[in-house]
This record gives sequence, C-alpha cells and structure tokens, in this order.
Amino acid sequence: MAFSAVAKGEVKMAIWGHTADGTAVPIYTLTDGQIEARVTAYGAHLVSVKAPDRTGEMADVVLGFDNLDTYMSKTLPYLGAVVGRYGNRIGLGKFTLDGKTYQIPVNNGPNALHGGPKGFDKYVWQSKEVPGGVEFTHVSPDGDMGFPGTLTATVRYTLQGKTLRIDYWAKTDKDTILNLTNHAYFNLHGNDKGNILDQKIQIDADRYTPVDAGLIPTGELAPVAGTPMDFRKPEAIGARIDADNEQLKRAGGYDFNYVLNGKPGTLHLAAIVTDPKSGRTLTVETTEPGVQFYSGNFLNGSFTGRHGIKYEKHAGFCLETQHFPDSPNHANFPSTELKPGETMHSTTTFTFGVEK
Ligand code: GLA
Repeated sequence: MAFSAVAKGEVKMAIWGHTADGTAVPIYTLTDGQIEARVTAYGAHLVSVKAPDRTGEMADVVLGFDNLDTYMSKTLPYLGAVVGRYGNRIGLGKFTLDGKTYQIPVNNGPNALHGGPKGFDKYVWQSKEVPGGVEFTHVSPDGDMGFPGTLTATVRYTLQGKTLRIDYWAKTDKDTILNLTNHAYFNLHGNDKGNILDQKIQIDADRYTPVDAGLIPTGELAPVAGTPMDFRKPEAIGARIDADNEQLKRAGGYDFNYVLNGKPGTLHLAAIVTDPKSGRTLTVETTEPGVQFYSGNFLNGSFTGRHGIKYEKHAGFCLETQHFPDSPNHANFPSTELKPGETMHSTTTFTFGVEK
C-alpha cells in the first residue's frame, strides 16, 4: 500500500507560532487513511487538505500558507477561515431586531462583509482535542462589531475516512443574528497548479438569490433555468463564466448564493466538483439552506501562497454553506435569529474522492 505510512484517525498538535502578545497558537494535523487535513486555532482556519488523485499522487487541494505570520499579518480574502458572526454581506451593515436598529461597521464598499472589519477569522480560538479532530471555541462579547449578545461559538473539525466534517454550534445571552461558515478555497488540481475553470461543478439548486450592483440580494429567489447559473447538471466552471449576463458581470464571475433543494436541518447535497485531469472529486453536503459558490474572482496575485505561488484570479473556488446573505433584511429568507436558551447547530461535510 502506497499510503501505509499515513496513520489512521490520528490527531497531532504542534505550536505553530505566537501572536504579538505571546499567545501560543496550535496547529492540528488530522489524518485518516489517505487524507490529511491541517487546521489552526488562529481564526479556526482550514490550512490544507492533502488528497490523492486517480494514480495515488497526493496534492494539497486547499489554498493557504505554510506559516502563521502570513495569516496574522496580512488582510487576506478569508482563505480557509471560519467566518463570523455573519458570513457574507449585510446591506449597509444595518439590520433591525426586536424593533432596534444595529449598525455593523462597513468593510466592503457601503456594506458589511463576513462579520465586519474584525471578524472571527482574526482571533485565536480556544482548542480542545476530540476523537478524530479538534474543537475550537470563541466567545464574542455583547456589542462586538455592533452585534447584540455575548455569542459563544464552537467549531469542530473531524476527519472520518475521506470526509472532513465541520460542526458549528452557537449560544447567545440576548436575541441576536448569526451566519457561520468556512471560507476554504479549493483547487482539485492542487493549490499550486493553475486555475479551476476546467473543473466541473454540479449544484443541487433550482434557484439562486440574484444581487444588486453591491452584491446584496434583491430578495428574489430566481430560477437558474435558462441562465449561466444553472449547474443542475455538471458543467465546467469556466464554460459560461464570461457569458453576457448582468449578474456574472456584477460579480466578475460566480459569487452567488444558491437555494439548495434539500431540506434545511438535515444533511443534503450542496455540490459535487470533479477534476477531469486528476480524477479528484469533492462532494459537499450540509444542513444549511444555501451555499455561496464563489469562483475566486477577487484573487489577483497580490499575495504569495504556499510553494511561492501567487494566487491569481480563479485560483480556487469556495463553497460557503450558509444562510442567505443579508437575511436579516429579507423576511422571505430563512431566519438567522438566535435567542437565549436556543443552540444553533449546523453541519457541513467535505468528502474527497476519485473518479476513475
Ligand atoms: C465571499 C464573497 C465574495 C468575496 C469573498 C472574499 O465569497 O461573496 O464576494 O468577498 O467572500 O474575498
């Protein structure tokens, strides 16, 4: 067996580095069979995933860095980060809850993106080893980035065979809103091997949420049928990305929330991506009602990833399982509210396979 050297169901911890105030930051290596995943307590980032191709050759299929300093010292487009409190955009950073209006500091033109300027991706989380993985916990105080309530969030990564599973839990002490996700960028060729445009994606959604010029949902749940957003059958990511379509032009490619067909609260299919070249496949399942399919449109080579590679436009794709962007401002979207006494729990799985 080519991979007998890889331990099964193992979790190894090492101190990856320190923050400026001397806090030690651990990194965990999870191995089971052929898959190896690394996650760090800094921003609860997914740092890397090594997976075999159809010949057994391993590649790192997640974009990231081999040192903690890069994660801490640069403003990065959320490579592998856990995003909170609110994944994706809130229009003008404003929402009303129980009759009171809240303002999140804006950080994406006039809008708030991914929880505001200092989101959960910029904190060292508490870590606890669990069988097959690690659990990270972060306590966000009442009023943090303008959000009400002390929010305690726990994210658990476990590797079970070929499946990397992420569980999210959250509790609050005041009525609040939240939308937690993971923002990993994948490239099934390997993170240092060109772009993702020839990889085929299938998304289990008949509808998506169209956006305005600031990428805020208009509130409509529009059919994908007859548009370049239709991935009900597998299609190369690049096949229609330059189509003459106003939505694609606004986003510079794909950057849309899909309304998944499966039942929220139960694990259902979000998307399957296959790489015809290497044979690697990625299957994403989730309990969330939506997934943001983002084709790395804003990557522009402005920073250097592992192996000295500059991540250029479309170097990776994201499948951010989530509630819909700007939900607090759309009564017809599934609610993102959380009340004291309730526990939010969601699950997303990423399964790495091969196609012969
Ligand atoms: C999400 C958004 C994108 C972009 C990235 C981060 O995917 O939808 O528009 O902001 O995060 O660069």
